Amino acid sequence: MLISSKINAEFNAQIGHELANSNQYVAIAAWFDGESLKGLAKLFYKQAEEEREHAMKFVEFILDTGGKVEIPAIPAVQNTFASAEAAARLALDAEERTTAQINDLMTLAIAEKNYAAQNFLQWFVNEQVEEIATASTNLDVIKKAGPNVLMIEAYLNHINK
Ligand code: FEO
Repeated sequence: MLISSKINAEFNAQIGHELANSNQYVAIAAWFDGESLKGLAKLFYKQAEEEREHAMKFVEFILDTGGKVEIPAIPAVQNTFASAEAAARLALDAEERTTAQINDLMTLAIAEKNYAAQNFLQWFVNEQVEEIATASTNLDVIKKAGPNVLMIEAYLNHINK
């Protein structure tokens, strides 16, 4: 086995975190969809898919290194939001939490001198820079639009052309 049982366990936990993020983003997307904000809904449905892909990267790495995949229980997510801003803030909070989790995993991989795990995790370190930037921009744009959420839809249509 190319990973310790400790890394194996922590990576399994991260699969749970990534799947929880995926579920949370489906819930946010569905809430936007229910509010007829299709652009925002599309953004978060896509993000939900990406989180599932993140989980699958951990699944593949654990298997490739001879570990055992054990998917943990996934906690319930938030399904209703006071506003678009509240939903976007929740997403940014989730990404900040994920960044801290990835950093902790990297710290563990460095402590164990596991270079394969470090190399694998580097992709996530870079990805989190993007994820935080995107989540921050989303929140910023939503805050700027204030109560006029249809402005956000117009903005998303514009930047996705
Ligand atoms: Fe998988 Fe958005 O972090």
